[in-house]
Amino acid sequence: IPVEPFDLVIFGGTGDLARRKILPGLFRRFCAGQMPPDAAITGAARSDMSEDEYRDFVRDAIHEFGGEQNHDEDKLSAFLECLHYVPIDARGENGWRELAGLMRKGMVHAFYFSVAPGLFGDLAERLNQHGLTDEDSRIVVEKPFGRDLASAKELNRDLAAYFDEGQIYRIDHYLGKETVQNLMAVRFGNMLFEPLWNSQYVDHIQITVAETVGVGGRGEYYDKSGAMRDMVQNHLMQLLCLIAMEPPSKFDPDAVRDEKLKVIRALDDVEPHHIVRGQYDAGDEGPSFREEVGDPRTRTESYIAMKVGVSNWRWAGTPFYLRTGKRLKARCSEIVVVFKALNHSIFGEQEDHRNVLSIRLQPNEGMTLGVTIKEPGPGGMRLIDVPLDMSFAEALGKDGSDQTDAYERLIMDVIRGNQTLFMRGDEVEAAWAWTDPIIDGWDTRGDVPKIYDSGSEGPVDAVQLLARDTRVWRKVAS
Ligand code: BG6
Repeated sequence: IPVEPFDLVIFGGTGDLARRKILPGLFRRFCAGQMPPDAAITGAARSDMSEDEYRDFVRDAIHEFGGEQNHDEDKLSAFLECLHYVPIDARGENGWRELAGLMRKGMVHAFYFSVAPGLFGDLAERLNQHGLTDEDSRIVVEKPFGRDLASAKELNRDLAAYFDEGQIYRIDHYLGKETVQNLMAVRFGNMLFEPLWNSQYVDHIQITVAETVGVGGRGEYYDKSGAMRDMVQNHLMQLLCLIAMEPPSKFDPDAVRDEKLKVIRALDDVEPHHIVRGQYDAGDEGPSFREEVGDPRTRTESYIAMKVGVSNWRWAGTPFYLRTGKRLKARCSEIVVVFKALNHSIFGEQEDHRNVLSIRLQPNEGMTLGVTIKEPGPGGMRLIDVPLDMSFAEALGKDGSDQTDAYERLIMDVIRGNQTLFMRGDEVEAAWAWTDPIIDGWDTRGDVPKIYDSGSEGPVDAVQLLARDTRVWRKVAS
């Protein structure tokens, strides 16, 4: 179903995110018939480019990042007809009148700030000053949304000076992933899981986001962020919230976000010895982290594992173990819920059997539930664990492997005016309020990350983190 006609302006329209994600994503929505033909997309950036040059730029971007199935040149030409370009100066006057001239009445107006956060305030001010926005206009902003609580508050203030919270769409692209949304469907669309979803039945939960890539050309940004700011404060935190939150009364933006916020506010402070930080070494996969960021003494982490407690009625006593890192053995994101052991076995002495639910976010999205059954054969009542395994691609056919990218899904939600999958200002601030003391602690203590091998499962200390609690990490599937 097409969304209503819109004017979308992409500030930073020649940038990397626009090229890799936003424009190819919009093209795929266009091919899917979801983008109405009278929608208009305007790239706005500093470069002095003609509209034709911009269309060539977008054509190249789509050839490179549009995906195999989308090399339909007729459709691409039709899509390029919807594009405009305006050279603009975020801090000056240049280009604003031209941009205002392109905005049509009676359309949804959305402004995507795909620029450094330092420009958010300037853009908001200019948009307002040139009368480009009204109470229905939408602002889309990207992470990093601040680098600590103080800077996030400042960004929120800059935007709030001109826009209501209901107009601000803060993107965390993990919330646009199919299986991340599925977490809510699994929890709140089934009778089976929710009664057991608490510390009485759940021993612990593991959240893993493992990547094989290194920091590559993003060294300068990444060295100032590290895995904590780049991944934990946002993506892993969102996954934790969706796993831990109470059922919202309805699937409505504020009802969902209120519940997520309560989880963040219930997070315990993290003890320094409950955190393991690591940095990858050089390997077949490429140079070391230190070399890639260009600082032989950098103390930034490319890996982090931590034990986190959620102090509320549902979760007190059930630890959440989070880990994420770059240059690991396999790309694998998964959430594993390990249930408690039976409190009495009628089968006598047997090794430990537990039900384990794993939800695979990527790749090969799906769910596996480990159940205990009798080992076949005449050997008596010996128990074994077998997986009830479901790959969404197999169970649902081609729709199960729906390759809709997180960005295209989220941009369509912006046009529809649905904020459920976007972070609210108070959520972001609460996440930084929890993160800040952890990072400050490392700085004060001069904490140095452990070196781990490229292509490994991360620093061995992370194994110890669970071993101390007589637990083990699930193997990262390759
Ligand atoms: C981004 C981080 O937000 O997410 C990157 O800045 C990371 O460092 C990326 O690689 C991971 O996203 P995905 O969708 O590939 O899991």
